[in-house]
Amino acid sequence: MTQAIPSCTFVIFGISGDLAARKLIPALYNLHRRELLAPETRIVGFARRDWGDAQLRQEAQQALETFAAEALDETWPSFAARLSFVQGSYDDMDRYRALSAHLDRLDTAAGRIFYTATPPSTYNEIVRSLRVSGLNRHEGFVRLVVEKPFGHDLASAQVLNREIERSFAESEVYRIDHYLAKETAQNIAVLRFANTIFEPLWSNQYVDHVQITMAEDLGIEGRGSFYEEAGVLRDVFQNHLLQLVALIATEPPARFDAQSVRDEKVKVLRATRCIAPERAVKGQYVSAGKLKGYREEPGVAPDSNQATYAAAEFGIDTWRWAGVPFFVRSGKRLKAKVSEIVLHYKTPPHIPFALERPVAADQLILRLQPNEGISLWLDAKAPGQGIKLRQVSLDFAYEQQFERSSPDAYETLLQDILMGDPTLFMRSDEVEEQWKIVTPLLEAWDNDDDPAFYAAGSWGPKEADQLLASRGRRWHSPDNDKSGA
Ligand code: BG6
Repeated sequence: MTQAIPSCTFVIFGISGDLAARKLIPALYNLHRRELLAPETRIVGFARRDWGDAQLRQEAQQALETFAAEALDETWPSFAARLSFVQGSYDDMDRYRALSAHLDRLDTAAGRIFYTATPPSTYNEIVRSLRVSGLNRHEGFVRLVVEKPFGHDLASAQVLNREIERSFAESEVYRIDHYLAKETAQNIAVLRFANTIFEPLWSNQYVDHVQITMAEDLGIEGRGSFYEEAGVLRDVFQNHLLQLVALIATEPPARFDAQSVRDEKVKVLRATRCIAPERAVKGQYVSAGKLKGYREEPGVAPDSNQATYAAAEFGIDTWRWAGVPFFVRSGKRLKAKVSEIVLHYKTPPHIPFALERPVAADQLILRLQPNEGISLWLDAKAPGQGIKLRQVSLDFAYEQQFERSSPDAYETLLQDILMGDPTLFMRSDEVEEQWKIVTPLLEAWDNDDDPAFYAAGSWGPKEADQLLASRGRRWHSPDNDKSGA
């Protein structure tokens, strides 16, 4: 039986922004449509714009028409009735008092949730104001949801964590990394810990190296000024990619609860070596065909050296992973949108066949997108006389097996927040460890000169291929799903 989801007043700071329109409103509407929002649940938008309830409803309708996977239906009027708006700037204490009075008038719900869908520079102010206005306390439950990026570097993340600790208990805080809610990311733990056959092979005894790729075909999509500040390291590397590393490398937790899972992730992040600039490649896309270069994007300086691509090699100093290189890469305006993790196995110590070519390494590929699923590439005997090898794959495709597409990550996350389950959210110590790992690279790249340039629509700079070639390896090509190569 599904557990009932408690009612709440869900306050979204920055409801007039992009994140609310693209992700939060569609996810909340879908939960409403699936009858997962309790009848008393209300959604309160807080933003600087001079909107009222009616305009919020109109904007929400437009957001759903533009971004929701399915068209609005007869459930829209009852969803619209849940919405109300409070205008205010994030540092105006009077407006927090107005918000507090508004919530008191509405409140029949079991708890309150505050979500920062605002520019990151406002997070400290919002958290502080929630404390000063007393909104951080309530007779029911209170939860704070903080979007990424969590800080700009280690020092600012620490400042934000200390501010949050003054106002909320750690168990009340939900730091978002939407990659953790992707079905294949959640499946890593199930694959490893609910089966017998993988875990014994999940170590330096059998794994030669690990590759993680998060490639995007999109550019920066009008977010020039944000990206000039963030670059690929702060935007996705410090968070999404390092969380995937942690999920792959973690030891089995004794129980799959928030504390045990996050304790194990922190241990492995602590053992992860800081990335050395000599073992990393900083890239930036340049125009090719009809695609603009990064420096031609609106909001980007014409001589910007910001990284839109990063590839790096690092190690993890644990009994299980010593000696296994992790190669991780991510970039904007690459050839395709692909997020995948590949475990490359060692080749067998002795081959009893006379072969025309050496055996290929087995590969376990975990695909987060597109076509979520898992493939295992093996050598098999090709039909016919004699022994000739051919690579074959054993495939699990999420959509085929479950006959449905995987749920949107934000819907999963919002449901967990409503239920009070923080397992898929980052704890303060995880975030700080992740910053430590990228600090040497941030320091080098923030003051660095030219990046390695790559053509928009390609697979990135050739220097990233050389990074692996210098270790006798090469990137798995997501282009080629017909062989493990
Ligand atoms: C976000 C980044 O966190 O993740 C974006 O800010 C990026 O730049 C996005 O495009 C990618 O998410 P997904 O789920 O589309 O892979």
